Amino acid sequence: MPEYNLNVNGQSFTVEAAADTPLLWVLRDHLRLVGTKYGCGIGQCGACTVHFNGNAIRSCQIPVSSVEDNEITTIEGLSENGDHPVQQAWLEHDVPQCGYCQAGQIMSAASLLKNKPSPSDKEIENAMNGNICRCGTYTRIKAAIKTASNSGIV
Ligand code: FES
Ligand code: FES
Repeated sequence: MPEYNLNVNGQSFTVEAAADTPLLWVLRDHLRLVGTKYGCGIGQCGACTVHFNGNAIRSCQIPVSSVEDNEITTIEGLSENGDHPVQQAWLEHDVPQCGYCQAGQIMSAASLLKNKPSPSDKEIENAMNGNICRCGTYTRIKAAIKTASNSGIV
């Protein structure tokens, strides 16, 4: 089995895995970073969203063989104490219901605000479009993104 050197949440890891193993399973099964969730496995739900060099990607769709020497950030590494402005806004708006989709939602929102600190409603909708929430927390997600955006420290 080939070995891959990964940079996840600022730490270096070496994992042994088949080249086509999705990053999602390496994160969850090899590194025990289980905040990133499996929803559909086909790039349609956003539950598995992580940052790849700062941009939101679906970790179920990218093989471990193509992520070496790139910066990967999971929900566990977004902030040291769960106090990223997006996480604070999520708390303020009491966004989660069952919680299953929320790590993916937060990672997408954080990436959006990093690239576009003051997004319009349309830009928020477009950026969050691929993150499905079966509990229907969309209104609170949007409000929380606006709060984080207005904080000016994202
Ligand atoms: S599990 Fe990756 S997009 Fe659904
Ligand atoms: S909070 Fe339940 S799926 Fe989104």
